[in-house]
Amino acid sequence: MLSRKAILGASLLASVTLMSSSAIAQTIGFSQIGSESGWRAAETTLTKQQAEERGIDLKFADAQQKQENQIKAMRSFIAQGVDAILIAPVVATGWDSVLQEAKEAEIPVVLLDRMVDSSDDLYLTAVGSDLVHEGNVAGQWLVDELDGKDCNVVELQGTTGSSPAIDRKNGFEQAINGHDNIKLIRSQTGDFTRTKGKEVMESFLKAEDGGKNICALYAHNDDMAVGAIQAIKEAGLKPGSDILVVSIDAVPDIFQAMAAGEANATVELTPNMAGPAFDALDAYMKDGTKPPKFIQTESKLYTQKDDPQKVYEEKKDLGY
Ligand code: AHR
Repeated sequence: MLSRKAILGASLLASVTLMSSSAIAQTIGFSQIGSESGWRAAETTLTKQQAEERGIDLKFADAQQKQENQIKAMRSFIAQGVDAILIAPVVATGWDSVLQEAKEAEIPVVLLDRMVDSSDDLYLTAVGSDLVHEGNVAGQWLVDELDGKDCNVVELQGTTGSSPAIDRKNGFEQAINGHDNIKLIRSQTGDFTRTKGKEVMESFLKAEDGGKNICALYAHNDDMAVGAIQAIKEAGLKPGSDILVVSIDAVPDIFQAMAAGEANATVELTPNMAGPAFDALDAYMKDGTKPPKFIQTESKLYTQKDDPQKVYEEKKDLGY
């Protein structure tokens, strides 16, 4: 029989071998925006899980929605000499200096889910969806659903100055452009949160004859849509029929709303941005393989026809 010492020695050797073969980067800093939405929570959970599975020491910093906190976190990661940095940038502008500092320190940076306005020489790659396309898919769904019927639309935008707020607005407008039956009558930020989504929807309903003048809501994320659905119900209207609801993310709660007939469509954004990011970093650190500047994830449309209750069951324990 093997002694306890021999068993411990063997298992230690096995875990050391596993760690060194599965992770090239040992220490990675992750500057996360915060926890404004269910989608963001899932991205955080998956990034931590992926890091653990790969034996990476992930230094996590929650910026509480503030760019200044993200810049501070990046500088602290650079000072600690991490092997790489992941960042989900809260807004698109204002990153040049800190990205330059990371570059000078030879620390590769990977952008997650949102883009920056800086030169792409300043980061290794970006993992995300085509945000304009997402808005386009949502808009096209509405065009098809209305089939020429007149419709006044209200829009809940994401965080002002963030790339998804800018691009999802543009994509939606491109899709409805030229369809004179559809009018975007109000548009305001709900900051990607449920609370703000509800608050702003209440003000839209008030301003538009208690909602009688509104035919559809387009929300840049599901959390704002869920907040708005509550506001619509409190105003005595039926979300999903009196006011159509289309949004983006595909979080479990929107599938519950779809199953109840209170939401109509959502465009999926995968929260697993870290998997492709870690793969790209591994290849780059192993032999200098440069990834493409943009690693694109899929954007799938779900409607009430896609068995929303089943999708809810599949997604509900995935960290949202
Ligand atoms: O950048 C992705 C967006 O950020 C998600 O759609 C939204 O839910 C999140 O807050």
